[in-house]
Amino acid sequence: MIDLYPLVAPVLKRMDPENAHRLTIRALRTGLVPSQSAADHKVLGIDAFGLNFPNPVGLAAGFDKNAEVPDAMLGQGFGFVEIGSVTPQPQYGNPRPRLFRLPQDMAVINRNGFNNEGLDVVAARLEARKGKSGLLGANVGANKDSEDRIADYVTGIDRLAGLSDYMTINISSPNTPGLRDLQGKAEMDELLTRCCAARDALVAAGQSRKPLIVKVAPDLDDLGREVIAEAVLAHGIDGLIVSNTTLSRDGLRHANKSEVGGMSGAPLFALSTDVLRDMFRLTKGRITLIGAGGISTGADAYTKIRAGASLVQFYTALAYAGPRLVTTIKKDLVACLKRDGFSSVADAVGADHT
Ligand SMILES: Cc1cc2nc3c(=O)[nH]c(=O)nc-3n(C[C@H](O)[C@H](O)[C@H](O)COP(=O)(O)O)c2cc1C
Repeated sequence: MIDLYPLVAPVLKRMDPENAHRLTIRALRTGLVPSQSAADHKVLGIDAFGLNFPNPVGLAAGFDKNAEVPDAMLGQGFGFVEIGSVTPQPQYGNPRPRLFRLPQDMAVINRNGFNNEGLDVVAARLEARKGKSGLLGANVGANKDSEDRIADYVTGIDRLAGLSDYMTINISSPNTPGLRDLQGKAEMDELLTRCCAARDALVAAGQSRKPLIVKVAPDLDDLGREVIAEAVLAHGIDGLIVSNTTLSRDGLRHANKSEVGGMSGAPLFALSTDVLRDMFRLTKGRITLIGAGGISTGADAYTKIRAGASLVQFYTALAYAGPRLVTTIKKDLVACLKRDGFSSVADAVGADHT
């Protein structure tokens, strides 16, 4: 099938960004976006969380919040796809407009506020794709008006662990007031105790054990980083995603920089990589890290891997460059690994720390 993206890209870029995103999801649902069928280079394969990833490049949460197109996105060449964030109850989110492009900066600001169709709808979609190949993570959040936010994460795990390969506990969206407070010491202890208990209860009931991953913000000071490292080590959490969007507006030029929300894309790269590097050091390489934030090239992915990431994810660059970017990033990552004499991704993980 011919690649229509170069033809439709100028139209999408002139549309309201949220409408453009809806249209993209619709095109993917109806099979209008051709798959990239090339098998991954063997140097890209990596074992993490007891899973065998064909390549380390994943789709970050937020693109496919409602699990409408995970298989179409796996077909674009991603090594894994993360759906969500999903909250127990469906939620409209903040009033529109709530998604803003900053093309000059290759950035996006969003204040979506966990707009999603809720666990029932998402679970039904995942149920319907059960047995399909391709690694899928399920990212869960809490409803804005929930009285017990931690209970929302537990509900999400109960509902989606059996339908996914790993679960992400997203406590770092800046668009749900107070959510990031869950990154504090006492709050994290309670959150992780209850989430691990939920996972253990599923295992006791006969389900296979699913990795639990915590997704953190890039806006963490030294103490905040230490608190998280200690908590995930103490609770036996399997991994960390570093990072979500930032509240920082450093280095932005476009007029939309004054919009409220979380910023992602190229200007987030340095900050999120700095936190990633620190989390690798603080967790002594004992926790699997997923690096996200501002990746738009194979060299960016490679930098995150050398800083300590076993896997990487991206989203914003996809909105600017289209789905072919996945193939380009993988090809360039292979070249970076070979240039520096690494015969696998695993060999390069944390290379900057030795
Ligand atoms: C429009 C938009 C919506 C997002 N929604 C979510 C979300 O629901 N849950 C989540 O954990 N992260 C969400 N993210 C954050 C991304 O998963 C990612 O962590 C962040 O954008 C940094 O990566 P990037 O610079 O490659 O986009 C969202 C990002 C964008 C741009």
